[in-house]
Amino acid sequence: MKECVLVTGGAGYIGSHTTVELIAAGYDVVIVDNLSNSEFKAVEGVRTITGVDIPFEQVDCGDKEALGRVFDRYKFNSIIHFAASKAVGESVEKPLLYYRNNLGSLINVLELMRDKGVRNLVFSSSCTVYGQPEVLPVTEQTPRQPATSPYGNTKQISEDIIRDTVAAYPALYGIALRYFNPIGAHPSALIGELPKGVPGNLVPYMTQTAAGLRECLSVFGDDYNTPDGSAIRDYIDITDLARAHVVAVDRMVQGKSKSHYEFFNVGTGRGVSVLELIAAFERATGVKVNHRIVGRRAGDIEKIWADTTFANQELGWKAQRKLEDTLASAWAWEKKLRGIQ
Ligand code: UD1
Repeated sequence: MKECVLVTGGAGYIGSHTTVELIAAGYDVVIVDNLSNSEFKAVEGVRTITGVDIPFEQVDCGDKEALGRVFDRYKFNSIIHFAASKAVGESVEKPLLYYRNNLGSLINVLELMRDKGVRNLVFSSSCTVYGQPEVLPVTEQTPRQPATSPYGNTKQISEDIIRDTVAAYPALYGIALRYFNPIGAHPSALIGELPKGVPGNLVPYMTQTAAGLRECLSVFGDDYNTPDGSAIRDYIDITDLARAHVVAVDRMVQGKSKSHYEFFNVGTGRGVSVLELIAAFERATGVKVNHRIVGRRAGDIEKIWADTTFANQELGWKAQRKLEDTLASAWAWEKKLRGIQ
């Protein structure tokens, strides 16, 4: 019998791509999503790509009773918990919303796992837990720094909650994946990122500018201590990131975890500046991106990229897709959304 995985937030950007890779790897999937920041058409896209009528439950993970009914209705032994709020700026304005959503949902998931005998949890964490590290690249041993936003704090606290919970209930296993900057779209262009309103993240803003929806991309700062002065990030392809989740589930299902709680960096190991990313996009697509330099964005760090040695060795996972291909996929998705030939 196939193993089944519950994917919370499965209609979201990372959740939808991960569902596709789980199905490709031979898992059954049940999607839970409250559609607060996602659209049902992502589920339709995933169903089209996979040819599988994946069950979808419109449930808010903050509603423990409703989530409990999902646990009763389906039989699964692993959960990937994506469902969370993720906008850094919004989290500063509405901290209680972020603490309630992100921590309340996780606690519900863990209590239900404990009470209903579900063993494995993969958790969406973020490189934001490292803050601005003193030494680059960051390894998993790099000390975490105090969070710079309520959003970042929810990721740190969530990691701690999982660590303490699996220590107290030895039937449970957890893996936190610390994502760097996910970008791009599925090669089919049937699913991709669907930001609501004005995008806060670089790549959706860039593709919308290229598509003519936005007039000009603002580059936030050219006076950082980096070779071209713009900030550096580790941009990880969404399909590569999705595959890392499958490998993490495999590891737990196959009993290969080395401890009850593990955490891994999921990046490429390569730092790319904002200006380099724009140039790579223009090379990959042949489309110019109108941009101008403006002041730094409050709360941004200067540079971060991953040391992926541990994830490569322990998980046997490595990012594969070329940056240009990833950027071309983001553009193909944007064109599809806007009906551009
Ligand atoms: C942030 C969070 C990350 C979170 C992610 C998802 C931190 C340190 N990082 O990533 O944890 O998961 O958001 O929302 O809190 N930029 C521009 N112009 C733009 C937009 C962005 O120049 O219009 C620059 C930024 O200054 C930054 C880079 O592009 O240097 C990437 O920005 P963004 O895509 O927003 O991601 P992060 O801020 O790195």
